[in-house]
Amino acid sequence: MAPGSAINVGLLGLGVVGSGVASALLSKGHLYAERVGCPLNLRRVLVRDRGKPRDAGVDPGLLTTDPQEVLADDSLHIVVEVMGGEQPAYDYIKDALNRGRYVVTANKEVMAKHGPELLGLARKRGVDVLYEASVGGGIPIISPLKRDLSANSISYLRAIINGTTNYILTRMGKEGVEFAAALEQAQRLGYAEPDPANDTEGHDAVYKLAILASLAFHTHVRPQDIYREGITRLTARDFRYARELGYAIKLLAVARLDDGSIQARVHPVLVPGEELLAKVDGILNAVEVEGDLLGRVLFQGAGAGALTTSAVMADVLDAAQAIAQRRPPPPWRYEAGVGIRPMSELTTRYYIRMDVTDRPGVLAEIARCFGGNQVSIASVIQKEANETAQTAELVIMTHIAQEAAVQETIRQVSRLETVKEIGNFLRVEG
Ligand SMILES: NC(=O)c1ccc[n+]([C@@H]2O[C@H](COP(=O)([O-])OP(=O)(O)OC[C@H]3O[C@@H](n4cnc5c(N)ncnc54)[C@H](OP(=O)(O)O)[C@@H]3O)[C@@H](O)[C@H]2O)c1
Repeated sequence: MAPGSAINVGLLGLGVVGSGVASALLSKGHLYAERVGCPLNLRRVLVRDRGKPRDAGVDPGLLTTDPQEVLADDSLHIVVEVMGGEQPAYDYIKDALNRGRYVVTANKEVMAKHGPELLGLARKRGVDVLYEASVGGGIPIISPLKRDLSANSISYLRAIINGTTNYILTRMGKEGVEFAAALEQAQRLGYAEPDPANDTEGHDAVYKLAILASLAFHTHVRPQDIYREGITRLTARDFRYARELGYAIKLLAVARLDDGSIQARVHPVLVPGEELLAKVDGILNAVEVEGDLLGRVLFQGAGAGALTTSAVMADVLDAAQAIAQRRPPPPWRYEAGVGIRPMSELTTRYYIRMDVTDRPGVLAEIARCFGGNQVSIASVIQKEANETAQTAELVIMTHIAQEAAVQETIRQVSRLETVKEIGNFLRVEG
């Protein structure tokens, strides 16, 4: 590329994020040219429907529905993939890399499932895949993990990385409403999709945790390596009791490296009220990282929407500078064969809520099941009694115990004739 000549950008997708990227390229062209040292030129934009009304200010002549018109354009230097979904995005990214283009993507599913393969392919072709926007929207987290924290050995990360579920849990906690009402409110405000399962069942958080954990631990933590539970079983009652006990309930994504193996999980947890993560409310995201040199650091901010443009554009400028300065992509280190520790080996404290027959001796029977599995009870609180049904609700908090032992205890307790129902079972952080 001749010094000062334009860097050409192809855009795959012109939706929420793509429109933000296109209008930033068009409206801030002078500023970007100064920062990179040459102009950035939006050459081609792939969409599904050319007839759709658009307000990004893109010349309609640049729009195409034929992917080859973008991918096979030899004048392109950077391809920005903001279509979403695994396919055809994965094939298009591979194609662009094979043609020696830098790729910028916001696609968590593709990066979670295929990140190491795509990064390896990029290095073979002397280019890079940049994916800051795939986790945490506008919060810088990928770049700090790659650069600013690179001198640390990271022991764990804990994150609230799904704004939809954090909004729902915040409403349930603050207003005492049930899950369905909080979800409906989130959908009305545009924070939740009409089909919310990808968020509420924890899939979105699993993809993001896979990306963060792979980067933090220099290996490939695959989505299927991550234990997952969603938030749909939570009730207003759990939030009330958690608050009385001094906790907030959050959907946490946690990855920890211990003795050379990784445990990664996404599920609702009780977080002590004084912890910073307990105070991350609404659609905010936060990622806490612990490194040996740095100690703990927390990144927090809005995790979605137009702010994602900021992260995509930062990657576009980074790629453009690398191209303009003929700077080779940074080395990329990947260790194969790091073990994944099963969830059954987790040790933590537990909250268990159950309905039991309200009569003497019941507690002793339940305590025997706990003791028999070496699960030590820290406290038992009788919450509410139903005199007509002659049942009482118990909340049991355990000391630190092993997941497998607690699961076995719950199995045994639920078979007791005096136990009517296990209302809920949650892990406790901290
Ligand atoms: N929105 C956010 O807040 C946010 C935050 C962080 C990351 N992300 C990620 O950013 C990416 C884009 O999200 P978005 O919200 O901008 O999505 P979106 O609004 O649904 O836009 C998707 C765009 O891609 C085009 N497209 C989709 N499939 C296509 C296909 N097979 N062929 C051609 N064009 C296709 C669509 O074309 P038409 O316009 O013609 O339909 C549309 O322009 C996703 O990976 C998402 O996970 C989004």
